Amino acid sequence: MNKENSNNIGIAGTGFYIPERILTNFDLEKIVDTTDEWIRTRTGIEERRTASDEEATSDLAAKAGEKALKDADINPKEIDLLIIATHFPDHHFPSTACITQHKLGMKNAVCFDLSAACTGSIYSLYVAESLMKNSNYKTAMIIGTEIFSRTVDWQDRNTCILFGDGAGAIILKKGQKEKSIISFDFGSDGSNADLIKIPAGGSRLPPTINTIRNKQHYIQMEGKKVYRFAKKMMVHSVNKALEKAELSRKDIDLLIPHQANIRILKAVAKKLHLPLEKIMINLQKYGNTSAASIPIALDEAISEGKIKEGDIVVLTAFGAGLTWGEIVIRW
Ligand code: COA
Repeated sequence: MNKENSNNIGIAGTGFYIPERILTNFDLEKIVDTTDEWIRTRTGIEERRTASDEEATSDLAAKAGEKALKDADINPKEIDLLIIATHFPDHHFPSTACITQHKLGMKNAVCFDLSAACTGSIYSLYVAESLMKNSNYKTAMIIGTEIFSRTVDWQDRNTCILFGDGAGAIILKKGQKEKSIISFDFGSDGSNADLIKIPAGGSRLPPTINTIRNKQHYIQMEGKKVYRFAKKMMVHSVNKALEKAELSRKDIDLLIPHQANIRILKAVAKKLHLPLEKIMINLQKYGNTSAASIPIALDEAISEGKIKEGDIVVLTAFGAGLTWGEIVIRW
């Protein structure tokens, strides 16, 4: 569906927060059997951030949300809806969205968490936009927020080198035609749910001494299979989203992909015939921050002057589930 004509909901503000503590590849050399050279050449990542012991997922979210409110020049009480995307909430319940709501004084917001792993912020953006279209909600905030440093096994070099902590927020406002979603493409494939997962801690395997001993509370991933899926699905879905907007890949001014691996991004750029200058890349600084990755990259792209009025900006993500999602925005 091409939604361009009916759309009057636009992005009114963005903001992100990353913890101060930097963990470089050289630091990782002291923890696991790896090298800076291996990590840089295989992933493009040079360093990532890790939250302080006092910080929980909602703390990162609140700091990103505060910046987005300032950017949009909006009073917290104006927010009608808050959706938080995260793989590691403060608690199973209450939702991290409710906790963040209280921290930011967003008294009038309806709040819930959304689980779609690294695709979470894009899913949230679209869910928020759709809810706004069918309700009297005028202003919504979505936040992707992650503390991976507590769910990776620091003895597993296959995973601990990839991820970082951070949060990014986006505010949507009704009555704003510019910076609005003009098309989308989303999908899920539960038949591959085992490719990235945290096996224990839920109803399938509640926490026991054994699940802790067996390290089943940490992320497990089949990296190569995820890599192949990401390359293929991002290209396919970007093309589908563009088709729905009656655009072609030549119309893309900036592609903002989920920041997982530079090799995936280069392969996607090649398939879409896009020069690297049209791809937002900041994974060298933050690693893969999952649901936070796209809001952080969007905010940085704006502040670095990479987006101008009228540009076609495409957001594209993939993640555990498996899930994927693409959103085309006319800036
Ligand atoms: N340092 C040094 N060597 C490492 C290493 C590390 N951190 N991690 C793995 N290796 C080794 C492997 O043990 C393997 O050694 P072997 O050939 O002796 O068995 C070798 O390097 C190659 O490993 P492989 O898994 O084939 O590497 P790869 O090129 O596929 O890169 C990933 C691994 C994880 C970086 C890559 O598959 C990837 O990015 N996948 C997508 C993951 C992702 O995006 N997940 C998040 C989804 S949102």
